[in-house]
Amino acid sequence: MRNICCITWLLVTQFLMLVTESQTKIPAIIVFGDSSVDSGNNNLISTLLKSNFRPYGRDFTGGLPTGRFSNGRVPPDFISQAFGLKPTIPAYLDPLFSIKDFATGVCFASAGTGYDNTTSAVLNVIPLWKELEYYKEYRNKLRAYLGEEKANEILSEALYLMSLGTNDFLENYYLLPGRRSQFTVGQYEDFLTELAENFIRKLYELGGRKISITGLIPMGCLPLERTTNFLDQHGCVKEYNNVAMEFNTKLESLVEKLNRELPRLKIVSANAYNIVNEIIRRPSLYGFEVVKKACCATGSFEMSYLCNQHNPFTCTDANKYVFWDAFHPTDKTNHIVTNHLLQNVLLPAFG
Ligand SMILES: *[C@@H]1O[C@H](CO)[C@@H](O)[C@H](O)[C@H]1NC(C)=O
Repeated sequence: MRNICCITWLLVTQFLMLVTESQTKIPAIIVFGDSSVDSGNNNLISTLLKSNFRPYGRDFTGGLPTGRFSNGRVPPDFISQAFGLKPTIPAYLDPLFSIKDFATGVCFASAGTGYDNTTSAVLNVIPLWKELEYYKEYRNKLRAYLGEEKANEILSEALYLMSLGTNDFLENYYLLPGRRSQFTVGQYEDFLTELAENFIRKLYELGGRKISITGLIPMGCLPLERTTNFLDQHGCVKEYNNVAMEFNTKLESLVEKLNRELPRLKIVSANAYNIVNEIIRRPSLYGFEVVKKACCATGSFEMSYLCNQHNPFTCTDANKYVFWDAFHPTDKTNHIVTNHLLQNVLLPAFG
């Protein structure tokens, strides 16, 4: 009995070692996108869209408001940890970190940005093309730090995460007249898909080979969108959810096409729509109690500076809430969604 137990234990540890070993195949996680993945770049630029003050980060290590738009971590942090790397991914512009830290993970994302240049202009944040410029600068620094060969190996074996698009629709297309006078929403989806393609092709030319792209969650169910949905008694805005599904489908076709066309590229669609939708439809299955309002402040419309520590209405237990502020998920939601994507998409493809 004792022997069997030990043998089992031995097998289990060997299996775990194998898993851990296979996980070290990814030497670094490199992140592009918007507030869904920004770990603090907006702290260092002049924009009103910030979150480096309390109560943001109150469930992060040390209760630190890092500039993540959450009470805790964002998906790339969980992904990094699952691949055996560090539990948080530093922001490229953060002066507390250097190339030594960035060698195993770096985030170029900027809250409020989108595929479209006119989206990042709305809140004066980092446009996607500039995220790529920062990436080029990072490559040079990495080569100076580790030498050409080692750096190139990391850059081609790294997992590149892209997560953006919500702001193109909600902060630009549906809010401002410019793009709406030029494009139908379907045409705008096509336009953004083309911009996504151009970006991925550039990243590929620069050496990126393992890419995960995340499109849109059911953005019509964000508390802010419910609040302004007077017509439908503050239900989810169906049109926005339909656009999200349509755009995701277009991204998935793009992913298939690029996998066919670009040798040695492995790109996957980490589509979070269904899992987030499932959580929103049946929150109690996941241990949530509140889905229509966010934790911070009244939960109806506040984010960034309106979600601050002077607001007396902020909830005490964010784990009961799907959303942290009116536009962003809680740490717990991010964790559940990321685990789902890891198990179903990322670990099978890159683990
Ligand atoms: C966005 O702006 C950059 C920098 O000005 C420019 O190089 C790029 O062509 C623009 N993209 C589009 C689609 O207009």
